[in-house]
Amino acid sequence: MSENNENNENDFSSTERDIRAKTFFNKYHCIEKLGSGSFGQIYKAEYNNQFYALKIEDRDNTHNSLKNEAEVLNYLKVPQTPTIVSYGYSGKYNILIMQLLDKSLEDLLDIYKKFSIKTICMLACQMITILENIHTKHIIHRDIKPDNFVMGKDENSKFVYLLDFGLAKKFRSSKTLVQLKLINKKKLTGTARYASINASKGYEQSRRDDLEGLSYVLLYLARGNLPWQGMPGKNKEERYKKILLKKIETTSSELCEGFPQEFEKFCEYCKNLKYEEEPNYKMMKQYFLDVLKKEKLKYDYIYEWSNMGEENQIRIYNQDENGENNSNPSNFENNNNNGENNENQKEKVGCGCLIY
Ligand SMILES: Nc1ncnc2c1ncn2[C@@H]1O[C@H](COP(=O)(O)OP(=O)(O)OP(=O)(O)O)[C@@H](O)[C@H]1O
Ligand SMILES: [Mg+2]
Repeated sequence: MSENNENNENDFSSTERDIRAKTFFNKYHCIEKLGSGSFGQIYKAEYNNQFYALKIEDRDNTHNSLKNEAEVLNYLKVPQTPTIVSYGYSGKYNILIMQLLDKSLEDLLDIYKKFSIKTICMLACQMITILENIHTKHIIHRDIKPDNFVMGKDENSKFVYLLDFGLAKKFRSSKTLVQLKLINKKKLTGTARYASINASKGYEQSRRDDLEGLSYVLLYLARGNLPWQGMPGKNKEERYKKILLKKIETTSSELCEGFPQEFEKFCEYCKNLKYEEEPNYKMMKQYFLDVLKKEKLKYDYIYEWSNMGEENQIRIYNQDENGENNSNPSNFENNNNNGENNENQKEKVGCGCLIY
């Protein structure tokens, strides 16, 4: 899977225009930009009439998140995570080639503003299963957020996928199943808006933190917002502190007001999981299946966007190209604005590692 190629590829500048027209590993021709995040940029690439996603990261990036992501994906190979095709470097960039997927849940929320109960329940069951599968393989994701869940393409368009394993980490020994010690590093790893309360306090993460993060993501998608969005503050530390305080003081019943009682049960269960506790994935999925049954809704994989027209698709691509999400990777540590910009709560911090 590894490909290294420094010949005639090491001279491109970092401008999008240059990357877009480039061919990497003498195969993958970049066509258009799909998205960008704290550490990398993602392009659609073509080779042999097949399309791929190409994630590119500066090799100077001390977080080394793309290498971690490639190693984790290569090891995991679980359903509803992207298939890795190739990983290597080219000039001053690390490059990961993977399965091309579709729009993220954040992109879709931009259009639909809120998701229906039916959509939330169908997504929730799949998302819990994905987490169960990666946890079973001793990995935690540590950056659960709507931008990191994307829908599949074509014959896989009914399935949601989890991507972005740059912060993923092995949380226990695969031989002894002994977990890492519960230390407090006093620093958040993940994204403030969706991070669990314990992760926000800087505690070593485990399965419970992925699930609490998922509870915030699902409520965000159902409500269209979270109570701790847009908290003001002089700097990142102050904003993160306010987000955490608001998260602590918001009860599950407040967060889930107006939604089926199973939503509150799910949030409460996730929040109360112990560090080493094996989550009851089956029970959590049953909450959402019960809602579908009670509300006489069919688990038929038909979402709001299943019959999305051409018009909306064009709108999304424009947002990807020009939207707020185009943050400069090198700026993420030095962000000092006043918190009006919600992206500050969505930026991710920390670095991933496979420990043993
Ligand atoms: N395989 C893929 N297929 C299609 N789109 C993708 C793929 N991978 C990533 N994207 C798009 O690019 C966006 C950013 O990707 P990703 O999360 O992997 O990058 P990142 O730099 O780690 O981002 P962040 O720091 O914001 O978490 C995703 O939200 C998604 O919209
Ligand atoms: Mg991401």
